[in-house]
Parts: sequence; structure tokens; C-alpha cells
Amino acid sequence: MTVLMEVKDLTTRFHTDEGTVYAVNGVSYTLHEGETLGVVGESGCGKSVHALSIMGLIPKPPGDIPKGEVLFRGRDLLKLPPSKQRLVRGAEIAMVFQDPMTSLNPVLTIGRQITEALRLHLGMDNAQARTRAAELLAMVGIPSAKDRLDDYPHQFSGGMRQRVALARALVHDPEVLLLDEPFGALDALTRAKLQDELLAIVAATQSTVVMVTHDVDEAVLLSDKIVMMTNGPSATIGEVLSVELGRPRNRVELAESTQYLHYRKAVIDFLYTRQAHVEKAA
Ligand SMILES: Nc1ncnc2c1ncn2[C@@H]1O[C@H](COP(=O)(O)OP(=O)(O)OP(=O)(O)O)[C@@H](O)[C@H]1O
Ligand SMILES: [Mg+2]
Repeated sequence: MTVLMEVKDLTTRFHTDEGTVYAVNGVSYTLHEGETLGVVGESGCGKSVHALSIMGLIPKPPGDIPKGEVLFRGRDLLKLPPSKQRLVRGAEIAMVFQDPMTSLNPVLTIGRQITEALRLHLGMDNAQARTRAAELLAMVGIPSAKDRLDDYPHQFSGGMRQRVALARALVHDPEVLLLDEPFGALDALTRAKLQDELLAIVAATQSTVVMVTHDVDEAVLLSDKIVMMTNGPSATIGEVLSVELGRPRNRVELAESTQYLHYRKAVIDFLYTRQAHVEKAA
């Protein structure tokens, strides 16, 4: 498999009133083309900071420019000037945040959020852009998307907003989808539906995915590899678990698979047994 991205010794510090805090300390992993990498770890351990660091989105101050390397097709994203980093963020690596309103503009209609990007970056005319926008929204499971293009984000439910944020990220047909707990705030049923839709989208687009999550089942269901982060502060990678389950994956069948249960147990054991001991010892 071709290596798409290599994260090497990624380290991000914040300078706060209480002193310097290492939010992420020496994280390294390799992402292959078409692979889905899950990132799990306890709340506050540094999962989001890791994702924001890759995208060059750490606020300065209080943050330092992240150290280490993020090699994307051989180019170090951390060394690119901000204007080039913005281009990568726009087209090659698209991020979806935990709160959909971080990804969406509240004063633009759902249609415009997507058509503006299609017109601006892909040079489509208005009619082409509206047709493509409706297609993208249908792909993320918004029924009768054509009739909802003129609605605003506040007229949508949380799950629908997250679907729109995902559709917005798919505009550029990005090579990497970087998802930071995008389904974290949703009820279990909506989350399950969106996970299934994501599985279908990834199968159709062959996207490479980095998915931050605190949900053990979500991590095992979606990932080929799970990076398990140690507790913060100064979080790093504790273990990497290879999830060798075939695709397409079906949640109902997997629920009874001993292999699935084995992976699930390995993640639970890492998070709640071994990391719990680390916390106690500290
Ligand atoms: N802008 C900032 N300034 C100072 N410290 C920060 C800043 N952003 C994050 N941190 C600190 O970095 C650490 C990691 O935070 P991060 O948001 O990455 O956690 P997380 O693993 O994503 O947690 P959660 O699962 O709750 O989303 C935390 O201790 C947090 O307080
Ligand atoms: Mg987070």
C-alpha cells in the first residue's frame, strides 16, 4: 500500500498561566492510501490538538507552532507557508469538527455553503453547482436534498447539520477526511446511521480517513488501524491496533463476530484498564 501521510514526532505545546503544557508529545504514525485510522484516547488527552496541529490550526499564542513533521506525499505540511497550508486544508485534507457549526456558516443557506465552494474552487456555474450540491447532500443521507437547499443551518437538526458539514468536506473530493468526533454529540441511532453512511462514502470515494473518536465501537467498526493515545498531559501513542476485519462491514453481523469482540476488548482494556492504572500511579 502507498504511504500517503507520515506523522513524525508531532509535538504541540501551549503556554498558559500555569506554565507550559505539552498537549501532544511525540506522536508518530503512518497513514496509507485508502486506510481509515481511528484515534482514541480519554477526554482532554490531545486528540483534537493532534488533528488541529496537522491542519496548521493551532492558535498562536497560546500555542507554539507544532514541532515534528507531517509529510503528505513527501511535503512537510508544518513547513508550508500559511497560504499554502490553507490550500491543502481547502482541497487535499478536509476537516469536519465535532461541532458542525464550526464547519458551517450560520448566515448562508445549506445550498450556498456548498455551491459557493463548488463555484469558487471548481469553476461550476450556478445550475451545475446546485445539481452537484443536491447530489452531495443525498450522498450523506439528506432526503429530498433538492428541496432543502434554501434552508439555513438553524432549520436543521444536529444530525442533519453534521451531514451538511460532511457534504461540505466532500466538495473537493479530498484525499484525506480528517474527522474530529463528528458524531460525538448525536444520539446513538443517528450516530449509527451516519457511521453506516460514512462507511458507504469511504467505500465509494476510496477516501483515506483519520477519525478521532471516544467511542470504542465506532473506532472498531470504521478503522483499519487504531492509534490509542495515552492520557494527557503530554499524551503520546500508547499502542497501535491493526483491525483486520473484512469490508464491507455490517454492524449487525459484526456484533456477533469473535474477531470484532476481540478488537473491542483490546481497546477497552487499553483505555479503561491500563490507562486507568497510569492515572492512579500519577
Ligand atoms: N488553546 C489552548 N490553550 C491551552 N491549552 C489548550 C488549548 N487547546 C487545548 N488545550 C489543552 O490541550 C489538552 C488536549 O486537548 P484536546 O482538545 O486535544 O483534548 P481531546 O483529546 O480532543 O479531548 P475531548 O475528547 O474532550 O475532545 C487539554 O489539556 C487542553 O486543556
Ligand atoms: Mg477533542
